Amino acid sequence: MAKAKKMENEIMSKLVALSKQRGFIFQSPEIYGGLNSFYDYGPLGVELKNNVKREWWKSMVYSRPDVVGLDSSILMHPKIWEASGHVENFTDPLVDCKKCKKRFRADHILEAKGIKPDLGTMKAPPKELKECPECGGELTDVRMFNLMFKTFMGPVEEEANIVYLRPETAQGIYVNFLNVKDSMRLKLPFGIAQIGKAFRNEITPGNFTFRTREFEQMEMQFFINPKEADKFFDQWKETRMQWYLSLGMKKENLRFREHNKGELAHYAKRAFDIQYQTPFGWQEMEGIHHRGDWDLSRHMQYSGQDLNYIDPETGEKFIPFIIETSAGADRAALMFMLDAYTEIAGGRSTTTESIKETETVLNFNKRLAPVKIAVLPLSKKSELQKPCQEVLSLLRGERLVQYDETGSIGKRYRRQDEIGTPYCVTVDFDTINDQAVTVRDRDTMQQERIKIADLKNYFDEELN
Ligand code: GAP
Repeated sequence: MAKAKKMENEIMSKLVALSKQRGFIFQSPEIYGGLNSFYDYGPLGVELKNNVKREWWKSMVYSRPDVVGLDSSILMHPKIWEASGHVENFTDPLVDCKKCKKRFRADHILEAKGIKPDLGTMKAPPKELKECPECGGELTDVRMFNLMFKTFMGPVEEEANIVYLRPETAQGIYVNFLNVKDSMRLKLPFGIAQIGKAFRNEITPGNFTFRTREFEQMEMQFFINPKEADKFFDQWKETRMQWYLSLGMKKENLRFREHNKGELAHYAKRAFDIQYQTPFGWQEMEGIHHRGDWDLSRHMQYSGQDLNYIDPETGEKFIPFIIETSAGADRAALMFMLDAYTEIAGGRSTTTESIKETETVLNFNKRLAPVKIAVLPLSKKSELQKPCQEVLSLLRGERLVQYDETGSIGKRYRRQDEIGTPYCVTVDFDTINDQAVTVRDRDTMQQERIKIADLKNYFDEELN
């Protein structure tokens, strides 16, 4: 048990260190000592996360005839959060240790003891919630804590001016259901997709970017005839699992987990998580939720607007049901990093030298890799500068291309492998005569001689 915990900490520590050293993710704001659970994405991290979001948008919006996009505001009318049930129900059970003063989520303590928590009955907690899991001290009673961040609109800080930072992007979609349907002349079934920031005042943030207080969601709400709910729920479950697999995530690290009745969110009739096997256990990466007519009927009640749908063919009138797919961009980026993280004891041999230390490779799918191509002159000599510049100006513009001339070629390959660059282009002295370069593949380490004139087409084909 202790050994497993140590290994889990080791892998996460290595990933956190690599993230900082190589410009993926930084503690925010480090020069002020950091703010617990806030992170900044560095030059490579922003590329990775943008690539995750782009791939999601491509598969959810561009590849389908039945889903359109939206970008709604973060601060919205406070009534929305009453209608959505968040003011009343978006709470986590909190306990404090009277001795060591640590704070815990009561449901997490129970889960660790193999007890399925029932949030509905958490106000009368089971006897297993008496002792602090860290020091054995006495725990306080469970208090329900609302996770929404509040702020005030306008200059006066009073109750009437409270607005909330959205805890999910979904509500912005529901309140625009009519606008989108009418402006785009859509018929059911159709979906609305949105990517954007969400905020939750989490009690126990942690595991790097896994659980933070500010994060990005990639959510899609699919509006359907209630009769078709089961069919679309099953379809979306599979579609979303396939997305992770299509981007190279290892099958053995993915699974579904159905929510039991006691843990279903207040809006959900059924829910499955897509879980990823992290060094800190199987964890939720995305939720697929059957939300029934909860959302539109509540917004109908609170706004006074008619959100019924009339089927143009049958004349049938109903409140659409919703199947939701709700993924976290930060969580997905972290899981893709974990999945790609590989250590090779003794290193792989390079063409020119053998470096014996353990080699780290991030074998990202090419579509996710932050840097797509590195251009490396074999030497710093001035005669290689001109062909390097020619190659760089050919390749830049569409994707992130790095230039690196420092250190031995073997070390430079390793530096690129460590950040997951799929291709290295080496410019050598033969380039001056044959107008060709060597292209090295990160995974196979195969080298291919390619004419500079053909390079752009070559990479357009390999990377698109
Ligand atoms: N609209 C439904 C909804 O928000 P959720 O299960 O609460 O459902 C969906 O959140 C996804 O958002 C999660 O699967 C996760 O990927 C991401 N997420 C939720 N809370 C998060 C947090 N505190 N930090 C990072 N990602 C989070």
